[in-house]
Amino acid sequence: MSKSSEFPVFLFGAGLLTGATLTAAVTLAGRNVNEIGDLARFAVASPAVAQIAAAPAPAAPAAAPAPAAAVVADLPQGPLGLGRPALPEEIAAWDVAVLPDGTGLRPGSGSVADGEELFIEKCAACHGDFAEGIDQWPPLAGGVGSLTDRRPVKTVGSYWPYLSTLWDYVHRSMPFGAAQTLTVDDTYAITAYILYSNGLVEDDFVLTHENFGTITLPNADGFRPDDRDVAEYPLFRAEPCMTDCRPAPEVSKRAALLAVTPTDPNGKPAGTIPAFSTASAVQSVVAPAAPAAPAAPATPAAAAADSDAALIAEGEKQFRKCAACHKIGEGATNGTGPHLNGIVGRPVGAVAGFAYSAGFKEAAAAGKVWDEAFLSAFLADPKGAMPRNKMAFAGLKKDEERAAVIAFLAARAP
Ligand code: HEC
Ligand code: HEC
Repeated sequence: MSKSSEFPVFLFGAGLLTGATLTAAVTLAGRNVNEIGDLARFAVASPAVAQIAAAPAPAAPAAAPAPAAAVVADLPQGPLGLGRPALPEEIAAWDVAVLPDGTGLRPGSGSVADGEELFIEKCAACHGDFAEGIDQWPPLAGGVGSLTDRRPVKTVGSYWPYLSTLWDYVHRSMPFGAAQTLTVDDTYAITAYILYSNGLVEDDFVLTHENFGTITLPNADGFRPDDRDVAEYPLFRAEPCMTDCRPAPEVSKRAALLAVTPTDPNGKPAGTIPAFSTASAVQSVVAPAAPAAPAAPATPAAAAADSDAALIAEGEKQFRKCAACHKIGEGATNGTGPHLNGIVGRPVGAVAGFAYSAGFKEAAAAGKVWDEAFLSAFLADPKGAMPRNKMAFAGLKKDEERAAVIAFLAARAP
């Protein structure tokens, strides 16, 4: 369909819609006058609406475009030319909000004593006689000092910043299931009782709209204005970098080192990722891993060398469990754990610049040294062998595993 043939259809549609809306407005205004006194006053107070009410109802919009157009011209126009802004009086009739500065507070009063009766009758089934909460229903009192706990207890006394929120919330939405059934004075009384339950007023206290502003809740200063528009937003507003934004990333570890890559039956990582070729952490010490058992070792010395090589190769495999935290080899640096160069025979806690735990510092002060026996005990049960240390590692439970990794550590050290 072309633009030109669409256009008249659109106009016709808009005409119908405007006509229908006006008809509705006129009917509504008329009904307001007859039926709902208050709203009718608001309606009549608006010249535009009064005018609509006075205008003859257009019988068929298409047939009587002239009066409708005249009325529409006087109305404040929304983006679609429909409706009108709500009048202040209309908003006031709906608006029950009470603000922290006291705006919206109704004149009235209520005592703790009256509040207690009302609370027990209307609220205690869920919130408890003393506002302490029942089962999963929220407590409204207590919890002071718990805000930094892992499971803070947030109540009016421990958490809420403004008393106006309490008054407003109760008046607007409690009792649960019978919202807006409380009178203004009942709401003052219940609010006073909740203050009393929180130990914030005495039992003879009477809360009124006049002394309302003198009550400051304990956590009033626990909130701060949301400053993200100045504190954070500018950080994200910089011109985005689109080219050469940062140096190319360097792969420093492979999943194979963390022992999360499945291995093939020979203990090599399955797939095509070369096991240690790119990793800075470990380079193969034992040129290619354990060879298939040689047919017949020529001499006993050669046989011993072969079994050492196998042990060290096994140790290299075990070391994958350590490599996420420890480096070893030429130029090894500290990571989560200290580098392990020369660890066999090294004094405990001896790497300069590594922040050892208190447990390690004590052992170092006592002159402990990592001989093979101590290493083995430590690796079997890190927490047991060295109390209060921070190596988050469950341990190598098998003797062979520990022997292998210690052989590897000894062989690998530069
Ligand atoms: C039938 C159970 C029930 C009754 C009765 C009841 N409440 Fe509640 N109240 C609730 C539930 C449920 C909530 C939580 C509502 C939510 O999170 O939306 C709540 C929340 C509240 C809160 C806000 C708690 C917070 O920390 O967020 C206040 C204050 C409160 N009620 C006051 C009252 C008062 C006062 C009455 C009596 C006039 C009352 N309630 C009666 C169930 C009840
Ligand atoms: C999750 C990280 C992590 C893993 C995995 C880990 N370690 Fe550690 N290791 C540490 C930390 C951290 C320390 C220092 C502990 C302290 O200060 O309490 C440490 C300390 C050590 C020490 C003492 C070093 C010194 O300077 O005194 C040795 C030896 C050691 N680890 C060996 C190993 C071995 C072998 C493995 C693997 C079988 C391993 N670690 C696995 C984090 C780890």
